[in-house]
Amino acid sequence: MTTQRAAIILAAGKSTRMKSSRSKVLHPIGGRPMIEWVTSLARGAGIERIVCVVGEGNADVRAAAKGLGLDIAVQEPQKGTGHAVQCAKAALDGFDGQVVVLYADTPLITGETLNRVFDAFDTHALAVLGFEADDPAAYGRLITDGADLHAIVEAKECTAEQLRISLCNSGVVAASAADLFSACDRVKNENKKGEYYLTDIVEILRGDGKGATVVHASEAEVLGVNDRRDLASAESAFQNVMREAAMISGVSLKHPDTVFFAYDTVLEPDVTVHANVVFGPGVTVKRGATVHAFSHLEGAIVGEGANVGPYARLRSGTVLAENAKVGNFVETKKAIVGKGSKINHLSYVGDAELGDDVNVGAGTITCNYDGYNKHKTTIGDGVFVGSNSSLVAPLTIGAGAFLGSGGVVTKDVPVDALALSRADQINKLGWGARFRAVQEKLKAKRS
Ligand code: UD1
Ligand code: CA
Repeated sequence: MTTQRAAIILAAGKSTRMKSSRSKVLHPIGGRPMIEWVTSLARGAGIERIVCVVGEGNADVRAAAKGLGLDIAVQEPQKGTGHAVQCAKAALDGFDGQVVVLYADTPLITGETLNRVFDAFDTHALAVLGFEADDPAAYGRLITDGADLHAIVEAKECTAEQLRISLCNSGVVAASAADLFSACDRVKNENKKGEYYLTDIVEILRGDGKGATVVHASEAEVLGVNDRRDLASAESAFQNVMREAAMISGVSLKHPDTVFFAYDTVLEPDVTVHANVVFGPGVTVKRGATVHAFSHLEGAIVGEGANVGPYARLRSGTVLAENAKVGNFVETKKAIVGKGSKINHLSYVGDAELGDDVNVGAGTITCNYDGYNKHKTTIGDGVFVGSNSSLVAPLTIGAGAFLGSGGVVTKDVPVDALALSRADQINKLGWGARFRAVQEKLKAKRS
């Protein structure tokens, strides 16, 4: 039988340094709130019991945690990380497996790393995730002897010699529930901050004859977010991971530093992405498709061999079939675009379903909104929509129909019909010459 696992996510901090009306852990990285990153990390490791520790004042965090299906423990007032873990004890009553403590403000830890933390239980009772810090600053220092961890000393408590140690505490700690809570019960607040430090459990458990060890991670992975600068650093670290992964998996990024991903962006092999492209959440781009410069996509599926942009905006619910094309200054929303269909220039296509091989002329607009409701436009296979057409929904255009340019189409168009919905043109012969003659005469009189 495999050992049961639980997680405690600490999120009770006041996050004053963010200077935000929103709690820190709800700020997004790659389009997903930090608290969701950490929840997804725990779930990915097969952890079902997750307790989120929140402060009385963090109503928004509590609502988010509830929405994610987490158990909630309230810590009020916040007396330190050791006290926060103790506050989760009641919620894990009767649980006797392994517990990992995660911070909601440390979003980028990978499942692979978390598994290595649990693997450490093979040899030690307590595992701490550590990293070599470029600038150890305020991080807790790890006092080690080979593979054994002897103590974690908070920067404020360090001797000058200990401050020179660059191996630091990420905050992630794992132990059996019994060891974790028994040690937390014995943590004291006799330190410079007067807080109950979770980090003290290393020495407490060592006193019980139980060994601790360090599992190593990179600094970028365990980056903790305290203020907006850290948020930007975490975002940038995340983007670099995604760019690397995309290129390794066979995607060409022409200028990787200018392509921005969301947490769930999927780019298949042989996709090409040009400069300055933003992927919001919910985008899949299939094999061989090209996304040209300055395009913005979210909630969209781009089919095999399709072409997007430059300067295209694909909004939620856009699905482009194979070899479809959405060109410059085109916005789509809830638009299904069939195989080989083209919307090449300056159009808005929303709440629409286009068949295969449709040609949408420049400047075409689906008028989908009447001020109260959204209506659908359906366009059959092989339809030719003349340039500068206004398609007033609800509207159905039969397959093979032609729409004359400049029309305001308000009635359904039958299969294979030609629809002309603009005023007839009148040519007045000789009018130009007569007009000029009159104007020239008037001009001569004035001067
Ligand atoms: C903590 C660690 C330090 C480590 C660093 C890594 C302790 C004593 N120190 O320091 O060794 O290098 O993280 O970033 O653990 N929180 C609560 N309730 C509290 C206090 C904190 O829920 O009473 C939560 C915060 O919301 C945050 C996390 O715990 O998610 C860390 O708290 P923070 O005050 O930032 O700890 P550090 O001083 O950075
Ligand atoms: Ca911190």
